[in-house]
This record gives sequence, C-alpha cells and structure tokens, in this order.
Amino acid sequence: MKKIRVLHKIFSKPISCLATYSPSIANILDGKIDLILVGDSLGSTLYGMKNTQGVTMEMMKNHGAAVNKEIKKSLKVLDMPYKTYDNKIDAYKNAKILLNHCKADLLKIEISERKLVILKHLADKKINVISHIGVTPQSYKNFNQIKVLGKTNKEKQNLLKLAKESENLGAKAVLLECITADTAKLITENISIPTIGIGASIYCDGQVLVFDDLINLSTNDKKPKFVKNFFNFNKIASNVVRKYNREVKLKKFPGTKFTYN
Ligand code: KIV
Repeated sequence: MKKIRVLHKIFSKPISCLATYSPSIANILDGKIDLILVGDSLGSTLYGMKNTQGVTMEMMKNHGAAVNKEIKKSLKVLDMPYKTYDNKIDAYKNAKILLNHCKADLLKIEISERKLVILKHLADKKINVISHIGVTPQSYKNFNQIKVLGKTNKEKQNLLKLAKESENLGAKAVLLECITADTAKLITENISIPTIGIGASIYCDGQVLVFDDLINLSTNDKKPKFVKNFFNFNKIASNVVRKYNREVKLKKFPGTKFTYN
C-alpha cells in the first residue's frame, strides 16, 4: 500500500479527513481517520449563518480547544477565520493565539494570489499551513454563487500555479475545493505535497467531508454534488424523538427504572 507523509506522520494513501466542531464527535473520529479539521464551516453548519464570514476567533478558539482535547491520534487541523490573516502582523498574531489555545498541528488558510505572501510569512515562522485553493468559501457572501472551478484552461493554469507556489512557499498540503477532476489530477501530479480534495475527484491524495454531511445531520436540502450521506441519522433521530415524545405523553417515561426513591 502506498504511504504518504503529513508532517511527522505517515499514512496509507489516500488520506482521510473529516471536519467536526464537537468534542463527542471528535472522540469517535480520533484514530479512525487520519486528520480531523475544525473547519469554519461551523458558521453555517452549526450557527445557522449564511456564510463563513461571521465566524470569529472566539468561536474557533472555543470549538478548537474542546475538539482538540479529545484527539490523541489523528492530526489536528484548524481553520483561521475570515479577516484574521489579511496582513502579516495579524496573521502571525492570530495564528499563534489559535495554536496556543487549541494545540492544533496545522492551520488552514484560504489562498488567492494576493494571500501567498501571508502563507510564506507563516511558513517562515515555522507554522504548519494547509493552503486551501479552488473554491474558497470565505470569499462568498452567498453560497448559491459558488461554481466549480478549473473548467477553462485559464482557471486550470491559475490553480496549478497557486498550488505550485503554495508548495514552494512552504505549505504542508493543499486543499482543493470544488474543482474539475482533470484539474485536480494535474495539480496532484505536479506538486509533491499532499492534495486533499472536497468536491475535487478521486485524483487527490486525500478526501475531506464535513461529518454532519456524512451522517445527514443537517436539515439543508440543497446539498452540493460532492456530499455523500453515508448514513441517514436525520431519519433515525427523528424516529427516536417521536418515540421519546410518545413515552412522555403516555407517562411511560421516566417510570420506576429511571426514578429515585
Ligand atoms: O470549513 C470546513 O469545514 C472546510 C472543509 C470542509 C474543507 O474548510
């Protein structure tokens, strides 16, 4: 089996990664998948925001610390929230706050050509950075406007350039979001750090999904094409809640077994 290295850890290829914001879920995931990401998708997934632009340092610190406490084996990744790495001084200051508070192994930042200087600055300061390219959700107020990238030759070449520059400037991995399969293949074949894809085909060195999507926890009916529900928790949980409601109404619960005498 092919192996791949991320920081000091060697994984069998492809790498598996899930995003979660909850310590109890992190406890389930730890050691069963390679990387656990506390993503800023928590803004929309957990806090009901329209996008990720309202996610704050406090939210990432709180969820990051709670989740990371549960992780003993998997690598810990944390997103830097919107507008916290707009210039070198803020980026370094906020990166240190997040790392000290959450003890993450890597930080993920959304990269455009303009942001490469920030990536370099953090990498030069020995901070382990994942470069998130392709669709970068922090740039969108309205997620309905998100479109797959890499369809035109120009987009493909721009993404390849961004991935190569990310590697040259010290990124430890590149996360590819919502790009065409042939663009993902081109990038993966032309850089030596791992590519981790979400909506970026099988031609990546790893895959990431949001845990809530994996088990169909969210109530959002409009799911992107790349989301696969491996389990319908929503349906099972709804049945359980109906059962609880029935037992309460019938005074069957709590009953003697769950009552102190
Ligand atoms: O915020 C997030 O959860 C993410 C991924 C799903 C890649 O960035």
